[in-house]
Amino acid sequence: MDVLESEKGAGNDFLGWKHLPTTTPEPLIQACEAVRDGWKAKGVDLVVVIGIGGSYLGARCAIEALSHNFAKQLSGKKENPEIVFAGNNLSEEYLAELMDLVAERNVATVVISKSGTTTEPAVAFRIVKEYIEKNYKDASERIVAITDEHKGALKTLSTQEGYRTFIVPDNVGGRYSVLTPVGILPIVLAGFDIRAMLAGAAEMEKALEERSADNVAVKYAAMRNLLYSKYGKKVEILVSYNPKLQYLGEWWKQLYGESEGKEGKGIFPASVNFTTDLHSMGQFIQEGDRVMFETVVNVEKSNRSVIIGSDPQNLDQLNYLAGKHVEHCNAMAQLGTKLAHIDGGVPQLEVSVERINEYNLGGLFQFFEVACGVSAYLLGINPFNQPGVEAYKKNMFALLRKPGYEAQTAALEERLK
Ligand code: PA5
Repeated sequence: MDVLESEKGAGNDFLGWKHLPTTTPEPLIQACEAVRDGWKAKGVDLVVVIGIGGSYLGARCAIEALSHNFAKQLSGKKENPEIVFAGNNLSEEYLAELMDLVAERNVATVVISKSGTTTEPAVAFRIVKEYIEKNYKDASERIVAITDEHKGALKTLSTQEGYRTFIVPDNVGGRYSVLTPVGILPIVLAGFDIRAMLAGAAEMEKALEERSADNVAVKYAAMRNLLYSKYGKKVEILVSYNPKLQYLGEWWKQLYGESEGKEGKGIFPASVNFTTDLHSMGQFIQEGDRVMFETVVNVEKSNRSVIIGSDPQNLDQLNYLAGKHVEHCNAMAQLGTKLAHIDGGVPQLEVSVERINEYNLGGLFQFFEVACGVSAYLLGINPFNQPGVEAYKKNMFALLRKPGYEAQTAALEERLK
């Protein structure tokens, strides 16, 4: 914590995320709301958010956590546009099917890339942009770019085409950027309360400045590092019991994997959603190689209520549950699993929130980011770079015959003979 707080550790030029919750200016939120209102006035009912890694996982995590599970299938007029994500893979089939949807809807897009040069979002944006330009007279008003203030292909393109742009601050890396416009704009477009999210994050920011044994980020970082270095637990599984938190796992995996997995060190981050995955991964967790520990994201209260009814015939033999909330069964499954996994040699850590809402998600984002910085520094790792991500890109560019990669192309072709 001292290294993070003193801002003297490796990567200290990427600490801008630490105070985002308490420093995000109101005009930035209002500018995002202006985009939302402008698109609503045009009747936009589909927003394609294009980005990869830290440029989409935070927004997707928040939107999936806060959305109705069946929002798409429910009838009735939708108050907010549907958000879909693209540019996070290179699947031709995915893009073709995205364009099937785009063709049926009134569309706008947000393209997000800090570097402005990442291949996956650039390819998706070229295709979506071409469609929008062909089909809408007000094309440039339907495109918003979120990128570096000064450099990158996306910056150049946005300036030339006159797109509305938002900035990813220089001192905030992708995976720490959910509370910058990278996350804020998509979350606002989806109709969620970003002020509440920032308030929750701000309360956590303040709480984690506390230099005491009660600092929960330090506790979490210390426990996971102890389990790794003293007890050989090399895999951490983030566990949730609500399908809406699946993308919290995806966001968290990137945050911890990309921050810590360097120099032959690091805890491998995995995630499961129980009880679903108890029927697929449960066997391995209970009895497989004892390399893992679990961090359970405990949600104390359900936002909705469903009570199990009584059936006079009781053919399914479930009457012992009659009158009980489904969430009670979920809680008992959670407790039973915890005890079983402890008995099976899987240590448990727990992070608890009262319920899933904007405020608590903001707190979770800030908590996991601070704990990640502390944790990586405990391992002696720079939490804010990702040098290993470049290896696949160099090979891909060489194989795609990108200009400038001729020598690598020749070397790879020789190797693949
Ligand atoms: O955390 C990171 O820095 C990365 O995951 C990036 O967010 C990701 O590679 C996308 O980069 P960019 O926003 O430059 O397109």
